[in-house]
Amino acid sequence: MTATSIDAVSARAAAIAPSATLALTARVRALRDEGQDVIGFGAGEPDFTTPEPVCSAAIEALQGGMTHYVPVPGAPETRAAVADLMRTRNGIACTGDDVIISNGGKFSCFLAIQALIDPGDEVVLPTPAWLSYKPMVELAGGTLVEVETGPESDFLATPEAIAAAMTPRTKLVIINSPSNPCGTMYAPEQVRALADVVAAHDRAWIMSDEIYDRLVYGGREHLSLGSLEQVADRTITINGLSKTWAATGWRVGWACAPGQGGAVVKAMTRLQSQSSSSITGFLNPAIVAACTRTDEEVEAMRCAFEQRGRLMFEKVSAWPHVTCPPPGGAFYVFPDISSTFGRTSPGGRKLASAATFAEALLEEASVAVVPGESFLGCGGNHVRLSFATDEASITEGCRRVHDWLEALQG
Ligand SMILES: Cc1ncc(COP(=O)(O)O)c(C=O)c1O
Repeated sequence: MTATSIDAVSARAAAIAPSATLALTARVRALRDEGQDVIGFGAGEPDFTTPEPVCSAAIEALQGGMTHYVPVPGAPETRAAVADLMRTRNGIACTGDDVIISNGGKFSCFLAIQALIDPGDEVVLPTPAWLSYKPMVELAGGTLVEVETGPESDFLATPEAIAAAMTPRTKLVIINSPSNPCGTMYAPEQVRALADVVAAHDRAWIMSDEIYDRLVYGGREHLSLGSLEQVADRTITINGLSKTWAATGWRVGWACAPGQGGAVVKAMTRLQSQSSSSITGFLNPAIVAACTRTDEEVEAMRCAFEQRGRLMFEKVSAWPHVTCPPPGGAFYVFPDISSTFGRTSPGGRKLASAATFAEALLEEASVAVVPGESFLGCGGNHVRLSFATDEASITEGCRRVHDWLEALQG
């Protein structure tokens, strides 16, 4: 960047790093456009198409002329359908008034953090964590307090560690279960224990990012923090169409926060009214269709992910120099590759970090994985692989990595 361009932008904008995962996705696309046979384990996005009832509802609404402004937090029937889903599936006592629909789960998180955090407020976050929380907290002027976890605890924070990180300045605890990037999730008794810890702090809210709540495997049970009485009135639950309905490009997310007279949803609505206004109008009926008419399609995709996760875990576990916990939810495995550090790749690159590992792997074996540095905590010892891709690509990509690892020197 030139001196002039630094001067041109605000300090806030200058301090923000671009999303590493979106940058990697763009790079893979560019390499493929050049004709390279790249296998992408980078993108956190299902390869399925959005279920037909959802697509048809959007098309019908568009063709029927639903092309005008819609209410800022979403059409009343859309909010009601989302609230019904959150009540029946997630056990959260709420109505449509407690829901705001936004342009993607990412923007829902952004607005929730903007609505809650003042400069000086502390935000507790178990790490490794999704890479957008930190910049969002910093943009709001908050201070991030990391609770580091590791593979020995399946990357789950203990209630004791969360309690130790909380102070009178704690305004928010962010929990993302199932987790991106770790692919693990809290069991119901662990969720209850976390809720008890937060409930002991009057000021603290929870942002429970449950965008992967229906992608859980091995018969595990997902429990929503917002369904627990002790924190129900200070939990914001985040979800959306992107992952469960294979609809990343639709940009539809929502937040549900029934507590304290709907203060947070009202604040998020004010913020949205002065920024994006609303989601695309004709997507409203599609959201209703997703919430009410797609159980079979969603379950079929979940089963496919479960099968792919098993396949990828089996392959990754057989890689030399690598250890990896099994995936319990979302669509990620997060192997520890740190025992390759200090070795030399077949192409002559010195491996010294997850970033150098991922760069060498992409250049030499044409396999894209996300280096873990941006996920904080021990992330720098790991890479993230997404199994939201077909089984043939998983088999071929994992074979390439296996051969490349076997050829490491030193
Ligand atoms: C943990 C988590 N939360 C939120 C999001 C945002 O999803 P979107 O904005 O695509 O709806 C993602 C996407 O990768 C995610 O992994």
